[in-house]
Amino acid sequence: MSDTPTSVDQRTVGAVIVLAAGGGTRMKSSRSKLLHEVAGHSMLSYAVNAATALEPEHLVVVVGHLREQVMGHLHDIAPHCRTEVQEEQKGTGHAVQCGMANLGELHGEVVVTYGDVPMLSGDTLAQLVNAHRANSDAITVLTAQVPDPTGYGRIVRDDRGLVSRIVEHRDADDATRAITEINSGIYVFDTDVLIDGLSRIKAENDQAELYLTDVLGIASSDGRRVGAYEIDDLWQTEGVNDRVQLSRMNKEMNRRICEQWMRAGVTILDPEHTWIHSSVDLGTDVTILPGTSLEGATSVGDGATIGPDTTLVDVEVGADATIMRTQASLAVIGEGATVGPFAYVRPGTVLGAKGKIGTFVETKNTKIGEGAKVPHLAYAGDAIIDAGANIGAGTIFANYDGDNKWHTHVGRNAFVGSNSVLVAPVDIGDGGYVAAGSTVTQDVAPGTLAVARGRQKNSDGWVAKRKPGSKADRAASEAGDYHPNDEVAADQAKQAGSNQEAQQ
Ligand code: UD1
Ligand code: CA
Repeated sequence: MSDTPTSVDQRTVGAVIVLAAGGGTRMKSSRSKLLHEVAGHSMLSYAVNAATALEPEHLVVVVGHLREQVMGHLHDIAPHCRTEVQEEQKGTGHAVQCGMANLGELHGEVVVTYGDVPMLSGDTLAQLVNAHRANSDAITVLTAQVPDPTGYGRIVRDDRGLVSRIVEHRDADDATRAITEINSGIYVFDTDVLIDGLSRIKAENDQAELYLTDVLGIASSDGRRVGAYEIDDLWQTEGVNDRVQLSRMNKEMNRRICEQWMRAGVTILDPEHTWIHSSVDLGTDVTILPGTSLEGATSVGDGATIGPDTTLVDVEVGADATIMRTQASLAVIGEGATVGPFAYVRPGTVLGAKGKIGTFVETKNTKIGEGAKVPHLAYAGDAIIDAGANIGAGTIFANYDGDNKWHTHVGRNAFVGSNSVLVAPVDIGDGGYVAAGSTVTQDVAPGTLAVARGRQKNSDGWVAKRKPGSKADRAASEAGDYHPNDEVAADQAKQAGSNQEAQQ
């Protein structure tokens, strides 16, 4: 989806250390802050992806607070990461010391990033490394000019424009606080400079913490070159500390994702009311209508129309399909197929090309063949419905006997009449018919009609006898021999006659 990525030159990066030990108390959550999601994926996953893009020798995540959760999550999404534990959060400098603890000899620089800055891209990290190398810096820090720098560390530059030190907001005097260039907390260090600096930092500040930022001041006073790489895209330096910021981050990420898809040839009628996870894939000439949420591993083929008011989670949609007012997950929708409005498509549903899952239909673990239709008010579960079959309105596949689930098969071009119950396990053969209102408990051979319902019996004059003088009785006697259906039939016959004349 993205443009050609920036890559770092031949030399490898020694390590990326992702700081992720902090408390995240302002989230007020039993879940680690790093596992909260932006565009459908954990904040930590973005940090790890950006780091991975540098192809470092080592990728280390420093964990602390709620570390079992964080380590479990990393095991799932990025088993190539190693973790180091920072037992007590004694500051960013201490966190990097922990991250470096077991790395041995490194053959390149050390990059430091944060686990809670989801918008930072691998591209930006690569540009930072390239700038570091091009300028022969000992340390390069990623910085930004912000309108309100409150709370951030300020970048103090010397008269050559190099960084002489970073001063935390709480340790800064008024003149320093007036500086609007801030420290993003993302850096590239020459390894020896980092190791030396970390051995010299002291917890002599307002928070009595070991500040990583002090390593920059130490290197600068040693006469080393400390550069700043300034970026315009402030979002890439933004961390998330509470759920208000999380919401803002989600909104911005979604805005960017929608914009990227629109530029790639997708029509999104109302991007503010369309949510697309970063993992979703869309074809060209896809149309997305308002109130649509495309999640997880969803992919949509060329020319398909999704929405309005549709949520697809891990759904593969074929080209030119139409899905309207639908909730679907773990399903495959074939080319040119139609779904909805008001369908509930559950895991294991596979709808063939040009097939139909219609209005107020629920499906689960059901394969519906090419051109087959389940158009109205039905439940189809644990079934195979072959190509061209038609499932009448109100049909229920009774798949559950209270203990076990059973399968149903409906053959090719079979026809199941309205309001039938197919009691599984049962097999309707190819071209078989089921009369409307049947409860089918036995297999139906190919080409056979099954009628499984009470035969109709009419009791003449029943109302006159049992409810004399009632409204129904009066209506019946007024009707006499009049049957509205006879008139309809006569009209139809007349119509057919005149059509024939017109054709001759
Ligand atoms: C830090 C920087 C500040 C910068 C800001 C950008 C220092 C001293 N200050 O400040 O200059 O403008 O980031 O957001 O570095 N962490 C640990 N272990 C610790 C402490 C922190 O893993 O002991 C992690 C946190 O989880 C977080 C990151 O490091 O991801 C930053 O920590 P935080 O306490 O938010 O630093 P700030 O005070 O914001
Ligand atoms: Ca912070």
